[in-house]
Amino acid sequence: MAKCIVCHQANGEGIPGAFPPLKNSDYLFADKVRAVAQALNGSNHEIVVNGVKYNAPMPQQVGTKEEAVAVINYVLNTWGNKGGTVTLEDVKDVVIDPRI
Ligand code: HEC
Repeated sequence: MAKCIVCHQANGEGIPGAFPPLKNSDYLFADKVRAVAQALNGSNHEIVVNGVKYNAPMPQQVGTKEEAVAVINYVLNTWGNKGGTVTLEDVKDVVIDPRI
């Protein structure tokens, strides 16, 4: 959380139009494997979260799949989220971007 709250805010609500929410994010709940890949490799394309468009770069956040799975499981179950869990097995096909 030391890392993520800079952009996504301590309350997980982000900043509408700039940084998407992690709290009650339909986009996050829709695809947990994608979320792990974003934490690992960053994300920089247009996405729609709870009906609001975002298109800003998120830098790579963590260096290993273990860390990425741990942080996504944290955000899936913080701020009242009941997003379930994701396992290392679920993300076995996620590729760590070699450019980073
Ligand atoms: C420098 C600012 C910044 C930091 C730090 C950051 N993010 Fe992001 N995050 C963004 C931006 C900007 C997007 C939208 C990316 C896009 O448009 O492709 C995003 C998107 C996301 C998404 C998908 C959209 C959503 O809200 O569900 C997830 C999940 C996510 N971030 C998780 C994290 C986690 C977990 C951390 C900490 C380990 C983190 N982010 C740290 C800026 C940041």
